[in-house]
Amino acid sequence: MVEDRAAALAAIADEVRACRLCRLYEGTTNAVPGAGSPDAQIMFIGEGPVFHEDRLGLPFVGRSGDYLNYLLNLIGLKREQVFIANVVKHRPPDNRDPLPDEILACKPYLDRQIAVINPLVIATLGRFSMARYFPNGKITQIHGQPKFEDGRAYYPLFHPAAVLRNPDLRRGMEEDFKRLLEVLEQVKQQRAAQTKPDAAPAEPKPPEKPTQLRLF
Ligand code: URA
Repeated sequence: MVEDRAAALAAIADEVRACRLCRLYEGTTNAVPGAGSPDAQIMFIGEGPVFHEDRLGLPFVGRSGDYLNYLLNLIGLKREQVFIANVVKHRPPDNRDPLPDEILACKPYLDRQIAVINPLVIATLGRFSMARYFPNGKITQIHGQPKFEDGRAYYPLFHPAAVLRNPDLRRGMEEDFKRLLEVLEQVKQQRAAQTKPDAAPAEPKPPEKPTQLRLF
């Protein structure tokens, strides 16, 4: 039920706010557990909070967030319909890349969020979340190519900040975004095909009339 999912996500968020499993909480203003619909069919996973996210405790609320809103709007989605999380939940100092041990320490929170929401599509934003599902993938080669696995699609996208830094990526990003709903539809169709009972079982044959054994 959606209330149970919301409560489970709130409990994870409380744990994230109290988390001291790695050094990242030091010097931060707020943890950024993630936000959105507990029932989301599409979940976005970014890298980690930066300045404005740390100030507000919400994901993607700065310039990258404005661009993400623009992209969502392009395909008729609102933020409230999706769930947005990050690989690390506290802002790395000076917006440096998260370190492997920090990603590992934060992993159970993200794993649990995914398990609660059970989205049909996980869209990764940038290389750190991409690496969870495409360990050897190069974003420039695999962006926009979904991987269908376990009744879900993993969909690698550029990080919005990378696109803002490099406008050459903009067209690709927007095309990839426009395919997101098709990918979602494909997952729904795959799931429906899997749950459809196979061809109706054959009618049981009436027992054959015992043939009179000829005695002669
Ligand atoms: N960049 C991210 O990866 N995540 C945010 O929440 C904001 C910017």
